[in-house]
Amino acid sequence: MSVKKIAVLTSGGDAPGMNACIRAVYLAARNEGIDVVGYQHGYNGLLKQDYVAFEHKDIRNLIQRGGTVLYSARCEKFKQAEHRLKAVKHLNEAEVDGLIVIGGNGSFKGAELLQAEWDKPVVGVPGTIDNDIAGTDYTIGYHTAIQTAVESIDKVRDTADAFERIFIVDVMGRDAGFIALNSAIAGGADHVILPETFDSAAGELVRILDKLDQRRKNHANSSHIIVITENLWPGGLNILCDSLQTETGVDTRILTLGHVQRGGSPVWQDRILASKLGTFAVEMVINDERGRMAGIRHRYPESVPLENSRENLKPLNHYSLSMLEKIALLG
Ligand code: F6P
Repeated sequence: MSVKKIAVLTSGGDAPGMNACIRAVYLAARNEGIDVVGYQHGYNGLLKQDYVAFEHKDIRNLIQRGGTVLYSARCEKFKQAEHRLKAVKHLNEAEVDGLIVIGGNGSFKGAELLQAEWDKPVVGVPGTIDNDIAGTDYTIGYHTAIQTAVESIDKVRDTADAFERIFIVDVMGRDAGFIALNSAIAGGADHVILPETFDSAAGELVRILDKLDQRRKNHANSSHIIVITENLWPGGLNILCDSLQTETGVDTRILTLGHVQRGGSPVWQDRILASKLGTFAVEMVINDERGRMAGIRHRYPESVPLENSRENLKPLNHYSLSMLEKIALLG
């Protein structure tokens, strides 16, 4: 197959480094004399035939910019075959020879469905702060999100120390604990609550209180930082906050980091990852690889079937978990 035009889109939760990936797609494609168009607002752009033809000026100074110049969205309509067939028609009318989808799990489900209905390659590039995509060591945006969380933990610790308070830091991750676990380690937190290991509120509360007790025996006056993955505590974090305050008598506060974790200039790890995966995705389209994802394994890009990318296939790093248990108590 001779490839003359590649389309790229960003879909689902935006992630720092998506722009760096778009840039790499453009540069790698132009290096082969291939044109690049960008569909806007995720799959919605495909449904509306809403695309821009990239020129060199569009990708200047893009590597360091957060967000996505193509805009992003989630697209419910794409779950229905009639809408995907419209997308196929639009791709063919625009004479596109391959599509690169930068996004997370939901976006990859859409890519798999589209691939079954289109006779040209659809290639996924993992772009999400959650890192919940199997078949790749890391996803674009994950390192920056951790950096943002760690900077916030460092700052909140100053005020927590000053008042000898407990702080509960709520980080993103959807149903995965990658951001929580690693920002807890890097931020020197005392405890982390993760979807992968959470059993019940009562059990977790006992563990936290036990830990706080032991820590206070080691250091009579000190602050405590607890990191938790969003939407995990039954009934919400105010319940945990009230329980801790009542049980310990220590002033307790909640810090919800929210969408700031999706913003900002990508850190170098995300820029390099995005550049490698964007370039590799173009090679995959040229090689007519269908229904696959450009993943990273031990620093090298790798072609992985999209169906192997499902979130529940990716475990947390068990050494990181046990290490945190060992060193948090004495911190
Ligand atoms: O998947 C990325 C993510 O930021 C998750 O961490 C979070 O649960 C979700 O998106 C938030 O989605 P929205 O931007 O629609 O509120």
